[in-house]
Amino acid sequence: MFGSKDVVGLDIGTSSIKLVRLKKGKKGYSLLNFGIMPLPPETIVDGVIEKPEVVINAIKNLFKMEKIKTKEVVTAIAGQEIVIKKINVPKMTEDELAESIRAEAEQYLPFDIDEVNVDFQIIKEITAEKKEAETEEEGAPKINMDVLLVAVRKEQIEARNKPIIDAGLRPVILDLDVFAVENSYEFNYGIAQGEVLALINMGATFANVNILVDGITEFTKDIAGGGNRINHELQKSFNVDHETAEKLKMGAGLNGVSEKDVANTIASVLGEISHEINKMFHDFIKSTEKNISRVVLSGGCARISGIEKILTENFDIPVEIIDPYKNIKINPKIFDPEYIHNMAPVAAIGVGLAMRRLGDKAAK
Ligand SMILES: Nc1ncnc2c1ncn2[C@@H]1O[C@H](COP(=O)(O)OP(=O)(O)OP(=O)(O)O)[C@@H](O)[C@H]1O
Ligand SMILES: [Mg+2]
Repeated sequence: MFGSKDVVGLDIGTSSIKLVRLKKGKKGYSLLNFGIMPLPPETIVDGVIEKPEVVINAIKNLFKMEKIKTKEVVTAIAGQEIVIKKINVPKMTEDELAESIRAEAEQYLPFDIDEVNVDFQIIKEITAEKKEAETEEEGAPKINMDVLLVAVRKEQIEARNKPIIDAGLRPVILDLDVFAVENSYEFNYGIAQGEVLALINMGATFANVNILVDGITEFTKDIAGGGNRINHELQKSFNVDHETAEKLKMGAGLNGVSEKDVANTIASVLGEISHEINKMFHDFIKSTEKNISRVVLSGGCARISGIEKILTENFDIPVEIIDPYKNIKINPKIFDPEYIHNMAPVAAIGVGLAMRRLGDKAAK
């Protein structure tokens, strides 16, 4: 009934808020709005909103600037505290699982079950190996199923929804950054059947890593590591403030600072972040005996000059940059194609969020 209700995708990141609104027509999606509102440093720290009033005003201004009347907002969260894990449970119906998921989840959570909201997605049924099945009393094959478990602390959900409500809007779906990128990738590129693919979204604070097998998350984690870590190193190395570091990173020259030294500092921090991601890749390869064939990069760090080449060497896996608008119509009379192209990796999460519609399953 609410299937076609208009929603706004709002990606509240550490460095800026991104707004995306899409129109779903008979021939697919077209872009209605893309807006970005920078946030001053210290507004959001490590994913925690420290200055809610700044965020509320930024949201209000973004809606005003884009002249949006729609109140329904789809947003997302990220962070190292979120638990996303593939678990294996006896076969049961979705309703039965909804009843028992909290009990199942408890053993995987590093915090009290009462403090979290739990969501799940049934991935697939697995018939146990015949040998194993023979040990079953009735002799019938034992059927289990893989389930993707997601647990988020209630506090984190409330903290994310609050500034949206305080800005006079309605948060209708709360997604995760990793799933929003996945949604955006799959809409534009299709499900990677028979392929092992890693999606990495590198923003200001986090790198969200998602390893997909046949289009299904097999392993995912958010790690601390993004553009701000590069800024800190640039600030230290060249004795400059955050703002200057930000400009240096984007390729603006500065008297007395060699471009080569800046490039080396950026590459060295990317090396550290890659090292952590490589550890995840190796754990994945070791436990599944599957190789990762491709990495697709999104987020603001995808705009760092030469990053594809640096990461391709660091991972020894081909890296490409996402185009979240590959299958979305953009009217060149309304949007400057060059700007949209340049900002495309930054819009990936927002696009994934804007595609969600009311009635989709949301985190409870
Ligand atoms: N042209 C560019 N060159 C280098 N870095 C860039 C460029 N454009 C953006 N960035 C960097 O990308 C980061 C912002 O990316 P993004 O908008 O994806 O992050 P965020 O959503 O604000 O943060 P997070 O999701 O980690 O909380 C910043 O660190 C910014 O400096
Ligand atoms: Mg982000």
